[in-house]
Amino acid sequence: MKIVMLGAPGAGKGTQAEMIAEKYGIPHISTGDIFRANIKNGTELGKKAKSYMDAGNLVPDELTVDLVIDRVAQPDCEKGYILDGFPRTIPQAEVFTEQLAKNNEKIDFAIDVEVPDENIIGRMGGRRACLNCGATYHIQYIPPKKEGICDVCGSELVLRNDDKPETVKNRLNVYHEATQPLIDFYKAQGALREVDGTQDMKDVFAAIVKILED
Ligand code: AP5
Ligand code: MG
Repeated sequence: MKIVMLGAPGAGKGTQAEMIAEKYGIPHISTGDIFRANIKNGTELGKKAKSYMDAGNLVPDELTVDLVIDRVAQPDCEKGYILDGFPRTIPQAEVFTEQLAKNNEKIDFAIDVEVPDENIIGRMGGRRACLNCGATYHIQYIPPKKEGICDVCGSELVLRNDDKPETVKNRLNVYHEATQPLIDFYKAQGALREVDGTQDMKDVFAAIVKILED
Protein backbone atom coordinates (compact mmCIF):
# COMPACT_ATOMS: atom_id res chain seq x y z
CA MET A 1 0.00 0.00 0.00
CA LYS A 2 1.56 3.25 -1.17
CA ILE A 3 0.02 6.39 0.26
CA VAL A 4 0.66 10.10 -0.25
CA MET A 5 -0.65 12.60 2.31
CA LEU A 6 -1.75 15.91 0.82
CA GLY A 7 -2.88 19.01 2.67
CA ALA A 8 -1.85 22.46 3.80
CA PRO A 9 0.88 23.02 6.38
CA GLY A 10 -0.64 22.15 9.74
CA ALA A 11 -3.53 20.16 8.26
CA GLY A 12 -2.48 17.15 10.30
CA LYS A 13 -0.58 15.15 7.68
CA GLY A 14 2.17 14.16 10.09
CA THR A 15 -0.22 13.34 12.93
CA GLN A 16 -2.30 11.04 10.73
CA ALA A 17 0.66 9.54 8.84
CA GLU A 18 2.20 8.43 12.13
CA MET A 19 -0.99 6.60 13.15
CA ILE A 20 -1.45 4.98 9.74
CA ALA A 21 2.17 3.85 9.71
CA GLU A 22 1.72 2.21 13.08
CA LYS A 23 -1.58 0.52 12.23
CA TYR A 24 -0.39 -0.94 8.92
CA GLY A 25 3.28 -1.55 9.81
CA ILE A 26 4.65 0.58 6.98
CA PRO A 27 7.25 3.36 7.24
CA HIS A 28 6.21 7.00 7.64
CA ILE A 29 8.48 9.07 5.40
CA SER A 30 8.33 12.81 6.06
CA THR A 31 10.68 14.95 3.96
CA GLY A 32 10.26 17.77 6.50
CA ASP A 33 11.40 15.44 9.32
CA ILE A 34 14.35 14.25 7.20
CA PHE A 35 15.43 17.84 6.52
CA ARG A 36 15.00 18.85 10.19
CA ALA A 37 17.09 15.86 11.33
CA ASN A 38 19.80 16.88 8.85
CA ILE A 39 19.75 20.47 10.11
CA LYS A 40 20.03 19.26 13.69
CA ASN A 41 22.97 17.03 12.78
CA GLY A 42 24.70 19.79 10.77
CA THR A 43 24.97 17.79 7.52
CA GLU A 44 25.62 19.36 4.11
CA LEU A 45 21.99 18.70 3.12
CA GLY A 46 20.81 20.35 6.33
CA LYS A 47 22.96 23.43 5.67
CA LYS A 48 21.49 23.75 2.18
CA ALA A 49 17.88 23.24 3.30
CA LYS A 50 17.85 25.48 6.37
CA SER A 51 17.44 28.96 4.84
CA TYR A 52 14.59 27.81 2.61
CA MET A 53 12.76 26.13 5.46
CA ASP A 54 13.18 28.97 7.95
CA ALA A 55 11.60 31.35 5.43
CA GLY A 56 8.74 28.94 4.73
CA ASN A 57 9.84 28.37 1.13
CA LEU A 58 10.30 25.03 -0.58
CA VAL A 59 13.66 23.32 -0.67
CA PRO A 60 14.70 22.97 -4.36
CA ASP A 61 13.37 19.88 -6.13
CA GLU A 62 16.88 18.61 -6.92
CA LEU A 63 17.67 18.28 -3.20
CA THR A 64 14.41 16.46 -2.55
CA VAL A 65 13.47 13.98 -5.26
CA ASP A 66 16.55 11.70 -5.21
CA LEU A 67 16.37 11.59 -1.43
CA VAL A 68 12.87 10.12 -1.56
CA ILE A 69 13.60 7.79 -4.46
CA ASP A 70 16.53 6.34 -2.47
CA ARG A 71 14.45 6.10 0.69
CA VAL A 72 11.59 4.13 -0.89
CA ALA A 73 14.10 1.70 -2.41
CA GLN A 74 15.05 0.54 1.12
CA PRO A 75 13.93 -2.96 2.16
CA ASP A 76 11.48 -1.68 4.81
CA CYS A 77 9.40 -0.09 2.01
CA GLU A 78 8.70 -3.40 0.25
CA LYS A 79 5.14 -3.66 1.64
CA GLY A 80 4.46 0.02 1.04
CA TYR A 81 4.95 3.36 2.72
CA ILE A 82 3.27 6.60 3.57
CA LEU A 83 4.76 9.80 2.17
CA ASP A 84 4.14 12.98 4.18
CA GLY A 85 5.21 16.27 2.60
CA PHE A 86 6.28 14.73 -0.70
CA PRO A 87 5.56 15.28 -3.52
CA ARG A 88 5.05 18.98 -3.08
CA THR A 89 5.35 20.33 -6.59
CA ILE A 90 4.14 19.05 -9.96
CA PRO A 91 7.73 18.39 -11.15
CA GLN A 92 8.38 16.28 -8.00
CA ALA A 93 5.18 14.32 -8.62
CA GLU A 94 6.00 13.77 -12.30
CA VAL A 95 9.51 12.47 -11.66
CA PHE A 96 8.29 10.25 -8.83
CA THR A 97 5.38 8.85 -10.87
CA GLU A 98 7.78 8.00 -13.72
CA GLN A 99 10.16 6.33 -11.30
CA LEU A 100 7.36 4.17 -9.87
CA ALA A 101 6.11 3.30 -13.35
CA LYS A 102 9.53 1.81 -14.20
CA ASN A 103 8.70 -0.92 -11.66
CA ASN A 104 5.02 -1.11 -12.65
CA GLU A 105 4.09 0.65 -9.43
CA LYS A 106 1.83 3.56 -8.58
CA ILE A 107 0.45 5.52 -5.65
CA ASP A 108 -2.69 3.72 -4.40
CA PHE A 109 -4.15 6.55 -2.32
CA ALA A 110 -3.49 10.29 -2.23
CA ILE A 111 -5.32 11.48 0.87
CA ASP A 112 -6.08 15.18 0.99
CA VAL A 113 -6.64 16.37 4.57
CA GLU A 114 -8.78 19.46 4.13
CA VAL A 115 -8.47 22.31 6.65
CA PRO A 116 -9.26 25.97 5.84
CA ASP A 117 -6.44 28.50 6.25
CA GLU A 118 -8.26 30.19 9.16
CA ASN A 119 -7.89 27.07 11.33
CA ILE A 120 -4.24 26.55 10.50
CA ILE A 121 -2.59 29.52 12.20
CA GLY A 122 -3.94 28.62 15.65
CA ARG A 123 -2.82 25.04 15.34
CA MET A 124 0.73 25.98 14.42
CA GLY A 125 1.39 28.29 17.36
CA GLY A 126 0.48 25.47 19.75
CA ARG A 127 2.47 22.79 18.01
CA ARG A 128 5.56 21.38 19.68
CA ALA A 129 7.89 19.12 17.77
CA CYS A 130 10.56 16.62 18.70
CA LEU A 131 13.54 17.20 16.40
CA ASN A 132 15.01 13.88 17.47
CA CYS A 133 12.23 11.41 16.54
CA GLY A 134 9.76 13.61 14.66
CA ALA A 135 6.84 13.20 17.09
CA THR A 136 4.37 16.09 17.11
CA TYR A 137 2.27 17.47 19.97
CA HIS A 138 -0.09 20.36 20.55
CA ILE A 139 -0.06 22.18 23.88
CA GLN A 140 -3.87 22.13 23.96
CA TYR A 141 -5.08 19.23 21.78
CA ILE A 142 -2.31 16.65 22.15
CA PRO A 143 -0.13 17.57 25.14
CA PRO A 144 2.90 15.44 26.02
CA LYS A 145 2.73 13.58 29.36
CA LYS A 146 5.50 15.78 30.76
CA GLU A 147 5.56 19.41 29.61
CA GLY A 148 8.29 20.12 27.06
CA ILE A 149 9.50 16.50 26.87
CA CYS A 150 8.84 13.96 24.09
CA ASP A 151 6.80 10.94 25.27
CA VAL A 152 8.51 8.72 22.71
CA CYS A 153 12.22 9.46 23.13
CA GLY A 154 12.55 11.87 26.08
CA SER A 155 14.11 14.69 24.03
CA GLU A 156 13.24 18.34 24.48
CA LEU A 157 10.24 19.65 22.50
CA VAL A 158 10.57 22.88 20.51
CA LEU A 159 8.48 25.38 18.57
CA ARG A 160 9.58 24.91 14.97
CA ASN A 161 11.42 27.88 13.42
CA ASP A 162 8.88 28.01 10.62
CA ASP A 163 5.84 28.09 12.95
CA LYS A 164 5.97 31.84 13.57
CA PRO A 165 2.76 33.50 12.30
CA GLU A 166 4.48 35.49 9.45
CA THR A 167 6.22 32.39 8.20
CA VAL A 168 3.06 30.31 8.43
CA LYS A 169 1.34 32.82 6.12
CA ASN A 170 4.10 32.43 3.56
CA ARG A 171 3.92 28.63 3.84
CA LEU A 172 0.19 28.80 3.15
CA ASN A 173 0.83 30.95 0.05
CA VAL A 174 3.49 28.55 -1.17
CA TYR A 175 1.09 25.66 -0.53
CA HIS A 176 -1.71 27.20 -2.60
CA GLU A 177 0.63 28.05 -5.44
CA ALA A 178 2.93 25.03 -5.68
CA THR A 179 1.31 22.11 -3.87
CA GLN A 180 -2.47 22.42 -4.21
CA PRO A 181 -2.25 21.59 -7.96
CA LEU A 182 -1.29 18.06 -6.87
CA ILE A 183 -4.93 17.50 -5.91
CA ASP A 184 -5.88 17.55 -9.59
CA PHE A 185 -2.75 15.58 -10.50
CA TYR A 186 -3.79 12.66 -8.27
CA LYS A 187 -7.47 13.05 -9.16
CA ALA A 188 -6.49 12.40 -12.78
CA GLN A 189 -4.71 9.20 -11.64
CA GLY A 190 -7.86 8.08 -9.79
CA ALA A 191 -5.97 8.03 -6.48
CA LEU A 192 -7.42 11.11 -4.78
CA ARG A 193 -9.51 10.76 -1.60
CA GLU A 194 -10.62 13.68 0.56
CA VAL A 195 -11.16 13.84 4.32
CA ASP A 196 -12.41 16.66 6.54
CA GLY A 197 -9.36 17.56 8.62
CA THR A 198 -11.23 19.92 10.95
CA GLN A 199 -12.69 16.99 12.89
CA ASP A 200 -11.18 15.56 16.04
CA MET A 201 -7.96 13.71 15.12
CA LYS A 202 -9.53 10.33 16.02
CA ASP A 203 -12.39 10.98 13.59
CA VAL A 204 -9.97 12.04 10.86
CA PHE A 205 -8.11 8.79 11.44
CA ALA A 206 -11.31 6.71 11.30
CA ALA A 207 -12.23 8.38 7.99
CA ILE A 208 -8.83 7.53 6.54
CA VAL A 209 -8.97 3.91 7.71
CA LYS A 210 -12.38 3.58 6.07
CA ILE A 211 -10.94 4.85 2.79
CA LEU A 212 -8.00 2.43 2.95
CA GLU A 213 -10.18 -0.58 3.81
CA ASP A 214 -13.22 0.03 1.59
P1 AP5 B 1 6.87 19.83 6.57
O1 AP5 B 1 7.56 19.38 7.75
O2 AP5 B 1 6.29 18.83 5.62
O3 AP5 B 1 5.77 20.89 6.98
P2 AP5 B 1 4.32 21.19 6.40
O4 AP5 B 1 3.83 20.57 5.17
O5 AP5 B 1 4.30 22.67 6.38
O6 AP5 B 1 3.41 20.49 7.31
P3 AP5 B 1 3.45 20.51 8.84
O7 AP5 B 1 4.42 19.50 9.34
O8 AP5 B 1 3.62 21.92 9.32
O9 AP5 B 1 1.96 20.12 9.15
P4 AP5 B 1 1.25 18.71 9.21
O10 AP5 B 1 0.21 18.67 8.14
O11 AP5 B 1 2.23 17.59 9.27
O12 AP5 B 1 0.48 18.89 10.58
P5 AP5 B 1 0.71 18.21 12.01
O13 AP5 B 1 0.29 16.79 11.98
O14 AP5 B 1 2.06 18.53 12.55
O15 AP5 B 1 7.84 20.77 5.71
C1 AP5 B 1 8.57 21.80 6.31
C2 AP5 B 1 9.43 22.49 5.28
O16 AP5 B 1 10.38 21.55 4.72
C3 AP5 B 1 8.72 23.08 4.06
O17 AP5 B 1 8.21 24.35 4.33
C4 AP5 B 1 9.83 23.06 3.04
O18 AP5 B 1 10.71 24.14 3.22
C5 AP5 B 1 10.58 21.78 3.35
N1 AP5 B 1 10.09 20.63 2.58
C6 AP5 B 1 9.55 19.47 3.09
N2 AP5 B 1 9.21 18.63 2.10
C7 AP5 B 1 9.54 19.25 0.94
C8 AP5 B 1 9.42 18.89 -0.43
N3 AP5 B 1 8.87 17.72 -0.82
N4 AP5 B 1 9.86 19.78 -1.37
C9 AP5 B 1 10.39 20.95 -1.02
N5 AP5 B 1 10.53 21.36 0.27
C10 AP5 B 1 10.11 20.51 1.24
O19 AP5 B 1 -0.40 19.03 12.82
C11 AP5 B 1 -0.25 20.43 13.07
C12 AP5 B 1 -0.64 20.75 14.52
O20 AP5 B 1 -2.04 20.54 14.69
C13 AP5 B 1 0.04 19.84 15.55
O21 AP5 B 1 0.32 20.56 16.70
C14 AP5 B 1 -1.01 18.75 15.81
O22 AP5 B 1 -0.85 18.22 17.10
C15 AP5 B 1 -2.31 19.52 15.65
N6 AP5 B 1 -3.39 18.70 15.08
C16 AP5 B 1 -3.27 17.70 14.15
N7 AP5 B 1 -4.49 17.18 13.84
C17 AP5 B 1 -5.40 17.91 14.57
C18 AP5 B 1 -6.82 17.88 14.68
N8 AP5 B 1 -7.58 17.02 13.95
N9 AP5 B 1 -7.40 18.78 15.51
C19 AP5 B 1 -6.66 19.66 16.23
N10 AP5 B 1 -5.30 19.73 16.18
C20 AP5 B 1 -4.68 18.87 15.35
MG1 MG C 1 4.35 17.49 9.33
